[in-house]
Amino acid sequence: MADSNTRERLAPGFSGKFAQDDARQERGVPEKPLQMGSGWRASHISEADWRVEIPAEALREFEIIAGALAEYDEPLDELNPDGFDWPATTDLMADVRSRLNDGLGFVLLDRMPVETWTDPANRAVTWLLNTMIAPPIMQKWNGHRVYDVKDTGAKLEYGVRRSVTNLSQEVHTDGSFLAMTPDFFSLTCIRQAEAGGTSLISSLVSAHNDLLENHPEHLARLYEPFWWDRQAEHDPAEQRANWLPVFTRDGNTLSARYYDDYIRKGYGLMNDEIDAAGLAALEAMREAVESPQNQIEFRLQPGQMICAQNMQIAHGRTGFRDPSVKTEGGRLLLRYWLRKEGGIALDGVPEKLPAMAD
Ligand SMILES: [Fe+2]
Repeated sequence: MADSNTRERLAPGFSGKFAQDDARQERGVPEKPLQMGSGWRASHISEADWRVEIPAEALREFEIIAGALAEYDEPLDELNPDGFDWPATTDLMADVRSRLNDGLGFVLLDRMPVETWTDPANRAVTWLLNTMIAPPIMQKWNGHRVYDVKDTGAKLEYGVRRSVTNLSQEVHTDGSFLAMTPDFFSLTCIRQAEAGGTSLISSLVSAHNDLLENHPEHLARLYEPFWWDRQAEHDPAEQRANWLPVFTRDGNTLSARYYDDYIRKGYGLMNDEIDAAGLAALEAMREAVESPQNQIEFRLQPGQMICAQNMQIAHGRTGFRDPSVKTEGGRLLLRYWLRKEGGIALDGVPEKLPAMAD
């Protein structure tokens, strides 16, 4: 790569400092708030803006597929949406993609008759719909491209995610500990809890813009790296934490990963202490993310699917109570993580090709 002296010779007036300033303008703390569709304010949007009713024609197509796949027991990745003739569904999912990429950054699809479909059909239909957004990736380092969010009775400890308990989950980004954090997540409600389990959705873009206005010094720290607990989702020989920033920016496009708990645990795993500026920045971030202006809440009903831009829209839930766990099975959501680039492995590293025989 050309050094700054070479660049100066090739393009007089192009000094190294100038190049650094350019990079800062494109990548660091912006000078002005970022104008993105996902930078909404709660008081400016209503349910009609984010709830999409599934058209009757698309529902008829779903029913045909769900019937055909009622006893499907092959690997889900052998199902390709291009293998089906469903024009209304194709149009519906094109609308969903554009709302995720250019709209508010989240959509509630309302609703599929999941209670009348078999478990394999629920998994197959949601797999196909999600694949129409972007490829589903593994959610554990050793597999699982469809992840059941349910109370397993597990006790919260190292390597146990809150998603398998009935505890509340603070607002967060899924897979935030990954260098290649998923671009989108979706959750389809198969069964709701008897009480609680309210979903929270929060704009990380608006939180970012609030920090720019009120606490620019804290925002600058959030563009610098922190340690992140990798949730034991890696080869045991590898380091247990990743070193990543909360915010990254490419021009006017913001990407964010946020999970306060994973950062604090990451420092613990590395026997390190968060710097004072980092602690203050995390406090300011929490306040901005949890501001009522930047957050909405609703309760997912069976058959509804929420999907969102994972690196612009954070999500959480309240704790839930579920006496029906032993009889009906209790609250169950099917979760997908979708990523536009990279391999399907959790960390996004393209899979190695099998060794060629001599
Ligand atoms: Fe989550």
